[in-house]
Amino acid sequence: MDFLQQLGITTENAGTSTGSKTFTGSEKKIDSISPVDGKLVGSVWETSPEGYSKVLETAQKAFLEWRKIPAPKRGEIVRQFGEALRKNKAPLGKLVSYEMGKSLQEGLGEVQEMIDICDFAVGLSRQLYGLTMHSERPGHRMYEQWHPLGIVGIISAFNFPVAVWSWNAAIAWVCGNVCIWKPSPKTPLCAVACQQIITEVLKNNNMPEGISCLINGDTISKTMCEDERVALVSFTGSTKIGKIVGAAVASRLGKSILELGGNNAIIVTEDADLKMVLTGAVFGAVGTAGQRCTTTRRLIIHESIYDKVIENLKAVYSQLKIGDPLEVENHVGPLIDKAAVDNYSKAIEKAKSQSAKIIVEGGVLEGEGFESGCYVKPCIIEAENNLDIVQTETFAPILYIMKYSTIEEAVAKQNGVPQGLSSSIFTNNMRQMEYFLSAEGSDCGIANVNIGTSGAEIGGAFGGEKETGGGRESGSDAWKAYMRRQTNTINYSTQLPLAQGIKFTV
Ligand code: UN1
Repeated sequence: MDFLQQLGITTENAGTSTGSKTFTGSEKKIDSISPVDGKLVGSVWETSPEGYSKVLETAQKAFLEWRKIPAPKRGEIVRQFGEALRKNKAPLGKLVSYEMGKSLQEGLGEVQEMIDICDFAVGLSRQLYGLTMHSERPGHRMYEQWHPLGIVGIISAFNFPVAVWSWNAAIAWVCGNVCIWKPSPKTPLCAVACQQIITEVLKNNNMPEGISCLINGDTISKTMCEDERVALVSFTGSTKIGKIVGAAVASRLGKSILELGGNNAIIVTEDADLKMVLTGAVFGAVGTAGQRCTTTRRLIIHESIYDKVIENLKAVYSQLKIGDPLEVENHVGPLIDKAAVDNYSKAIEKAKSQSAKIIVEGGVLEGEGFESGCYVKPCIIEAENNLDIVQTETFAPILYIMKYSTIEEAVAKQNGVPQGLSSSIFTNNMRQMEYFLSAEGSDCGIANVNIGTSGAEIGGAFGGEKETGGGRESGSDAWKAYMRRQTNTINYSTQLPLAQGIKFTV
């Protein structure tokens, strides 16, 4: 596979690095098995406690240098990283597709998302604005400034094995932080490839070791969450693990950004453009084989068009091509591993046992081309919103559909789940659209109109409420979470008046 060679991936790779330096790991090896063909992509060694100590010490030292470099100069390095990603877009996109299983189009899209966040971060590096306030005291000036935090730990998930790291890292770097990345054990080679690309850029700029570090292994991840030298932990993954990470970091009063599960719905109103609904809903439900945190899991359809939408969905689902994601004509690739296939099958069984009705039958695919055992059929199930299984995020292409009669009822259903990441409405009715976007409407971090639930652009803040964890990453002012705010009041008068008019003479 030429893309592996181009990216410097070998059969065995060091899983611990501070840049040019790599460290021998523990005895434990992580094998990366491609869900595409079930073959070994390569392995990495888990980080040993000694390796972790070296990484931490190197990162601490690097921070002392990096924070002194002016933000626009740090931005210039991130710009060069974006350039390097442009050059590596094709092989890296292929590696994402092969190691994770998403379609090549989506693999390339993910690398594009990295390039976009670099561009955003470069601009940001000349901003990072603080406010200036008017002091109540004469001859005084008040303003705020933003300083870097220090070490930022990034724990990423398999489903976006490169983009989510870059959202965090590119922003964290221009803010003056150094980063330690703990990738998913299911996609460690994507991380090795990215680490090599950024290392080259940093080396070309004579930057110290430790600005971008890599560690591997779940035990060491726990150590990092408990380590008070790590100022911020940004975690993307399940709500179950997110609660553990959030509690561990909070117990030492560290900062965290939590990007957890979603249970995203599209509301389809009476007068929606059904052609648009079809593309939005189907891409949302089956794209990345239903393994995005923004995947469309529920479709809430107005009763007057319910049967028609079902008919249209059935027609499109019957034409979906499932297979090798590197082949351009396929719409749906495999799930990440057999455990994910198991969860998919169990969810369908559970829905059936809870008297849900199967609209499009699912199933695990066998035979030629499906040897990895990870390919499944996207399915559609008619189910009540309050069923246990509908309330749960299953990372698979299962779409639950239900009907509604009033917009209030639709929004109540949309909000009636524990998660609050993404939501959308397809409508041409201005009143219903505004209601959906109002304080009485969607309770999610993302609320779209005539766009599906997935595929957010990097310019907005990304994240959600309730069990999604409340964190925001990527665009807008999400950068503030990677910095500490300092309020400065300067007295340039010859008096020392106290605030609140307090009199104190000595
Ligand atoms: C994720 O699934 O963890 O909005 C991130 C989207 C992508 C990011 C998804 N831009 O679908």
